[in-house]
Amino acid sequence: MSHKVFLIAAARPNFMKVAPLWRAMSAHSDSLEPMLIHTGQHYDQNMSGIFFEELGLPTPHVHLGVGGGSHAQQTAGVMVKFEELCLQELPDLVVVVGDVNATMATSVTAAKLHIPVAHVEAGLRSRDMTMPEEINRLLTDAIADLLFTPSPDADENLRAEGVDPARIKLVGNIMIDSLVDSVERARALDTCSAFGLEPQGFGVVTLHRPANVDDPVTLARILDVLVGMNLPLVFPVHPRTRAVMRQHDLDARCRLVDSLVILADPLGYYEFMNLVVNSRLILTDSGGLQEEATWLGIPCLTLRPNTERPITITEGTNELATVESLTAQTAAILAGNWKKGRVPDLWDGHTAPRIVRVLEEFLASR
Ligand code: UD1
Repeated sequence: MSHKVFLIAAARPNFMKVAPLWRAMSAHSDSLEPMLIHTGQHYDQNMSGIFFEELGLPTPHVHLGVGGGSHAQQTAGVMVKFEELCLQELPDLVVVVGDVNATMATSVTAAKLHIPVAHVEAGLRSRDMTMPEEINRLLTDAIADLLFTPSPDADENLRAEGVDPARIKLVGNIMIDSLVDSVERARALDTCSAFGLEPQGFGVVTLHRPANVDDPVTLARILDVLVGMNLPLVFPVHPRTRAVMRQHDLDARCRLVDSLVILADPLGYYEFMNLVVNSRLILTDSGGLQEEATWLGIPCLTLRPNTERPITITEGTNELATVESLTAQTAAILAGNWKKGRVPDLWDGHTAPRIVRVLEEFLASR
């Protein structure tokens, strides 16, 4: 018997997590009938469409068309439309990934309809309740039936919250499945030279967290430090960040004569990974990039006071940074004084098949 499984995709970092799951589920069509549901949180071609094309994802079966807006607007919009869809399609299981608003909105909706929920990338905790993602993570994990974790620290967090250990499945890092699959193709591109950059001669910057980019004064301070660095930096700018830069004319700071900062539009997965694999260092506030840097062994500075991915620090190449510490940390990296790190266990490109095995058992037992 085949079970209907909704696979939820919403925002850019979801697509790299959903693609390997889609492939692994599709290979088990005797037991699983996956349906791809796009909530529409990210909608630009270079924030969504290009990832579907590059990662071999089909056109979503259903597009809920809930675009941007406040947190309440996004969450409520997804809940209303997703409830209608669930009542119409009656899925046997809903699989959510990551920590974006749609992860939480679809989980809560499904749970109230008594549809089981599986959360991939469960158990991560920053303990920073000012991050909307931390609220999404806590709520999703509290109600999901299956909690697929990427690392032992996530298991410990869940156990400490009193979660039944039978719900916790340590399966590894799903996003690394996409990276393993894509890294050679990314290496073969010439994005780096198209930007006029030499391999190992530049850093990659990404910034989009509200705490770093929503306040123009904070963002200007960060940009001033970047412009002052003695290293070319390529910075594909997220739409949230771009909006603040435009409104406050912050682009001008990066156009000063001695600035080595190259501002770019958001890039597709392969082009972006080409820059990453050729970079000397990464400076970011993204969650996923901390993990990709760890897997690739590239020094990473995370411009945040905390991370929900501590294994990237204890085992990987990542360190937290502040605006004040960035310059000294960058100098240490350029001087070769940085940890080499190791790839955490189960970050091996085979997480999706491990998840599918558990899902099959779970659905067969119901
Ligand atoms: C969301 C996630 C965040 C994730 C990030 C990755 C939540 C709470 N936040 O943050 O965890 O790290 O995605 O990118 O779910 N916009 C566009 N085009 C798009 C998408 C967004 O122009 O295709 C603009 C809109 O003006 C929107 C703003 O970017 O209002 C912010 O988008 P939103 O999805 O609300 O949050 P992100 O900052 O992208």
